[in-house]
Order: sequence, then structure tokens, then C-alpha cells
Amino acid sequence: MTAQLDSFYPTRVDFGTLDEIHRAAAAALPAEVLDFVEGGAGKEITLRENRAAFDRWRILPAPMSGVGAPSTRTEFLGMPLATPILTAPFGGDALFHAEGHPAVARAAQARGALSVVPEAGSFSYQRVRAAAPEAARIAQVHPFGHAAMVAERAARLGYEALCVTLDCPVGGFRTRNMANRFDPDQRHFAGNLTGADGAPGVAEVFGQLLKRGGMVWDWAELAIAATGFGLPWIAKGVLTPATAERALAIGASALVVSNHGGRQVDPAPASLDMLPAIRAAVGPEVPILLDSGIRTGSDVFLALALGADAVIIGRAAIYGLAAAGQAGVDRVLELLTEELRTLMILAGTPSIAAIDRSRIQRAA
Ligand SMILES: Cc1cc2nc3c(=O)[nH]c(=O)nc-3n(C[C@H](O)[C@H](O)[C@H](O)COP(=O)(O)O)c2cc1C
Repeated sequence: MTAQLDSFYPTRVDFGTLDEIHRAAAAALPAEVLDFVEGGAGKEITLRENRAAFDRWRILPAPMSGVGAPSTRTEFLGMPLATPILTAPFGGDALFHAEGHPAVARAAQARGALSVVPEAGSFSYQRVRAAAPEAARIAQVHPFGHAAMVAERAARLGYEALCVTLDCPVGGFRTRNMANRFDPDQRHFAGNLTGADGAPGVAEVFGQLLKRGGMVWDWAELAIAATGFGLPWIAKGVLTPATAERALAIGASALVVSNHGGRQVDPAPASLDMLPAIRAAVGPEVPILLDSGIRTGSDVFLALALGADAVIIGRAAIYGLAAAGQAGVDRVLELLTEELRTLMILAGTPSIAAIDRSRIQRAA
């Protein structure tokens, strides 16, 4: 049976707003799983800052611009995007919905978006790619000793790029999980471990590794491994110009400006606040994705205006998944894209490339 036929869930739902989707997700998830999704590290200052940073910017209306049918099409590392949105690599997806990342990737494929498929997901790279090969084109990996092996496997499966998460040598100090004594079944994070789903290779028990923070690499080790990746790789978790320059110097093809959704260093700066300096440091050509705090189409517009080429959605996608599986993620992508398209008309930007700094200003 093909993966497309696996779903018993509807492909369309009538959620009116993202808030409704959020509420449906909150109602569907056990309290401690919801906290795992919603929570950040430490005092959750970064978590709040990620949202507050967007609220400090305004989009300038451009009446009578004659823009009636803007195009949200773009591309990332040669991969076409009908909308400048990728879904994030998030582990433990079966905790949120039985269909997990295969459903996320199917929704992304239907909307012409891309999915970054996580190493610590509930389903293997192979399963997710089989479900939606046009969306599941980027495999995420944590840079421990097995990264080159994962890269080789991902390339064999047809993945076109690797997303290397730099900012998670150990899980952040997640206060809510500690209060809840949150101890999820590690199988939900084991889609790519040896034996799981027939996947060969990765030997370490990932959850244990993250708890202990063992076998952490430095730049020199990553540089050596990266020469053997055989795929273009994207450095995820870049929050300063210095980190951006370092990653590019050892061969990264693109960057994800991210603080991991406020789940790692707290207090760290908001991703959006660091984006302009990183764009200025690396120049106009380096492809940059931004994540952490994207919840609306206006957030997407602001991130693009401040230097991103596209954005990644983490929790917004998880809310859709938890609320209604593939159909929920589909509706999230639809709502974000429709708000973006509306704003492009109102701000007079006919294309994604036209969304630049001149279209926005800081709030007074
Ligand atoms: C429940 C959850 C699990 C995550 N797991 C991973 C992971 O395994 N690897 C990774 O690189 N990022 C992981 N992330 C971070 C996301 O990829 C992304 O950077 C973050 O969610 C973006 O912020 P946002 O949720 O505000 O959109 C996870 C995020 C959440 C919420």
C-alpha cells in the first residue's frame, strides 16, 4: 500500500484561524505533551522574545500599487517552493499525532512547501520520504559521530540536502518538562535508530545522548565530517554573525537563523533581532532560513523583509498536526500563505524578492 493511502484522516478541515487550530491542538494533547511542545528553556525569556520581536515591526501599506496577483513562489538551494515556508524538524512527532512526519510532509507536498525531516522523529527518513518525496528533500542530523553515515544514507534515499543542527549538543534546561517529570517513551524519537523501521546504521541511543550531552563535536571535527557529506548542508542554530561565518568557512551552503524556538539557551536573543546583522555579515547571496516564533503570515513577511529567503515553522506545524493530522498542517500552511499573499497585495510587493527592508519600519 502506498503511503498516500495510509491516511484515514480528512484532507480538508474548516479551522477559521490559527488560534482555533492552536486551541484544538491544546485540547487534543495530554497536558505534559502540550508543555513539551509549548515550553522553552529556563525562564522562557527567549520564548517570549521570539514573539515580541515580530511585534516591534510594522509593514508599510502601498495603496494603488497595482499589485493584484502576487506570486509567493521562490526556491531554496534549487528546490522549488510555492510558498516560502518549510516545516521544521521536530522529534517525537508520534506524541502529537499517530501519523507524524509522514502526514506533515504530505501536507507540505500538497502546498508546494518543503519538510525538513528530523533524525529524532518517530518515523525513518525512508518512511517520510516515501510518503512525500517532493517535500521530504532535506534530512536533519545532529552532529555527533555518526553524521557522515547519516549523510550517506540520506543521499542514498534521495535527499538533496542535510540540515545540521548546531545548537543542541545537549537538550536545553526545559523547566516545564522538569516540573512534569516528563519522561516520554524514547521510541517516539527513534525512527532512525538501528533496527527501527528497518533503518540501518545509527548506533547511539539518541535520547540518552541528548540527556548526557556526550560525544559533542567542535568546529574542526564538523569540518572534517562535512568534507564527506556528499550533500550540500545547511547550518541550523545560527544566532550570531560569528557562527554564520564559521559555518560558511567550513562549507555550509545555507544557514538557519534560529534559537531552536527558545528551547536551548535562555535568555538568548530573538532570531528575528539577530537576522539583519547575520544577513549583513554574510552578504546577499547566502540562502538564509529563519525560525523561532513564526505564527502568522505577517511574521513571514517581516522575516523576509529583514533578510530571510524563507522561514521554518515548528510549533505552528505541530499545532496543525495535533489538531487534525495532515489536514491540520495543510490548513496552517494555507492560512499563513493566504495572509502573506494578502499582505503582498496591500504592501505592493509582486514577488517574494520584492519583499525587502524598504517595506517595513520599526514601531515607534
Ligand atoms: C517539540 C519540538 C521538538 C523539536 N525537535 C527538534 C529536533 O529534533 N531537531 C532540531 O533541529 N530542532 C528541533 N526543534 C526545533 C525546531 O526545529 C525549530 O527550530 C523551532 O521549533 C522553531 O521555533 P517555533 O516552534 O517557534 O516555530 C524542535 C521543536 C519542538 C517544538
